[in-house]
Amino acid sequence: MPALVLLHAFPLDRSMWDREVRALSDAASPIIAPSFPGFGKSELPRVQPTLDDYADAVIAVLDAAQVERAAFAGLSMGGYVAFSIWRRHRARVERLALIDTKAEGDTPEAKENRIRLAALIREHGVDAVLKAPPKWLREGAPQWPAVKEIIRAQRPEAVAQASIAMGGRHDSIADLGAIAVPTAVIVGEADAITPLANAKTMHEGIPHSSLTVIPDAGHLANIEAPEAFDKALRAWLKRPS
Ligand code: MLT
Repeated sequence: MPALVLLHAFPLDRSMWDREVRALSDAASPIIAPSFPGFGKSELPRVQPTLDDYADAVIAVLDAAQVERAAFAGLSMGGYVAFSIWRRHRARVERLALIDTKAEGDTPEAKENRIRLAALIREHGVDAVLKAPPKWLREGAPQWPAVKEIIRAQRPEAVAQASIAMGGRHDSIADLGAIAVPTAVIVGEADAITPLANAKTMHEGIPHSSLTVIPDAGHLANIEAPEAFDKALRAWLKRPS
């Protein structure tokens, strides 16, 4: 059984994977779901981190657990970090799942928006990210109160740092062709943040990758459609390496 590392989205923490940690325990061991620096109970960085710093922090967790190689599944920001792990710690990656995420870097305008959002969060707290209509789930999704609760539990400074870190991330398009481990690209059919077009770019760029579209799900596909999501993850975990 492979070890499995679950990498969370912005602006949530490891608890977005609580269900999977239990549900997939017969398919992977150990299952490690770290919170990125500053999120959940992890220590807040004193200086602005990059997503490469998040990647190195995840590898430090694996080192401490004496896990040499693992299957890495990253959702959205977690996918951006998975790309960093691939670039910096390739030998540790046994397989990759890129979920509701994208390989493209930010446009200058998107980067500016991230910096503006960070300033708003520092001034008004985490609720600043909840002001605009949320696109993490489909409109009216019953899971929204639970997701909001996870978001509200985060330290504003951690969320601000992550916003800036995402704006400064590398573009991963040039890396796609060299990804030689079993890779699953998974996307909620109604993902409004990283839609199917982004998933297709990764699928077409990564040799021998699979593409799974999860029905009845938006951006946080594991939360909105847990059964279909688990099925996709199980199929990926079983693929020969
Ligand atoms: C996420 O879900 O991690 C973020 O919304 C991704 C992003 O803003 O690019």
